[in-house]
Amino acid sequence: MAQVTTLTLKQYKEQKKKIVSLTAYDYSTAQVLDRNGVDVILVGDSLAMVVLGHKTTQPVTVDQMIHHTQAVMRGVQRAMVIADMPFMSYQEDVKEAVKNAGRFIKEAGAHAVKLEGANRLALETIERLVDIGIPVMGHLGFTPQSVHALGGFRVQGKTAEKAMKLMNDAQALERVGVFGMVLEMVPSTVAKLITQNLEVPTIGIGAGSDCDGQILVVDDMLGKFTDFKPTFVRQYANLADITSKAITSYVDDVRTSNYPNDKESFRLSSEEEAAFLSLIGSKAFN
Ligand code: KIV
Repeated sequence: MAQVTTLTLKQYKEQKKKIVSLTAYDYSTAQVLDRNGVDVILVGDSLAMVVLGHKTTQPVTVDQMIHHTQAVMRGVQRAMVIADMPFMSYQEDVKEAVKNAGRFIKEAGAHAVKLEGANRLALETIERLVDIGIPVMGHLGFTPQSVHALGGFRVQGKTAEKAMKLMNDAQALERVGVFGMVLEMVPSTVAKLITQNLEVPTIGIGAGSDCDGQILVVDDMLGKFTDFKPTFVRQYANLADITSKAITSYVDDVRTSNYPNDKESFRLSSEEEAAFLSLIGSKAFN
């Protein structure tokens, strides 16, 4: 089973084979994704929202992201694992960004990092990271770390001028050496034209079917996170319902002493039981 690398993703684009990607934040989820053909696992900073319960991705820290990336790495054999660099871990200066990106590779064992945007500092940072040998994935369109500046969770690139800005940013990211990029919440025509004008693969989320691959937040597509459901999400399961039913049954079983039964308990042998009873000089268990 060959490990997925940046080269594999480039080949997939050339062969027009779609790249399958999902987020994961823990060991057992990473195992299921890896065993079932997911090519790229993103330890997204969406974990701030779906795992930690924050309203935006902004509060999550580098240490928290590293902790979850380490767990995901332990569950993966084939997939490429990309760690999201959280808000303010690369926005101050290149030196700080290099130090933080290095931690994801050294301490967590991630195969690559992702960062958002294409401003001057982001481009400079990506160039430096690529130069050092750290593969970088870009992220354009709706960039969640800038949610307040963007005026909320909104589709980006909706005018010709804004679409052209996205195209220019995508090409700038390619020039500084990203191996691929996420396009989030952009009109499908814009995503299609960007994809056609790049050599590196695009991974879409709310960006139509013409990107080179697709990514979803795993808690959204499994119906586990229920605070809100973006319109582009297809829900493949309803884990919130399944989990609720299981918990309700467990509560009933414990309250009615229906759990645990004999098979779910450990017993003394009859000889040891008799000896124990005689030692404590008590009556039989009932
Ligand atoms: O943090 C995340 O989950 C992401 C995906 C939405 C691409 O960046």
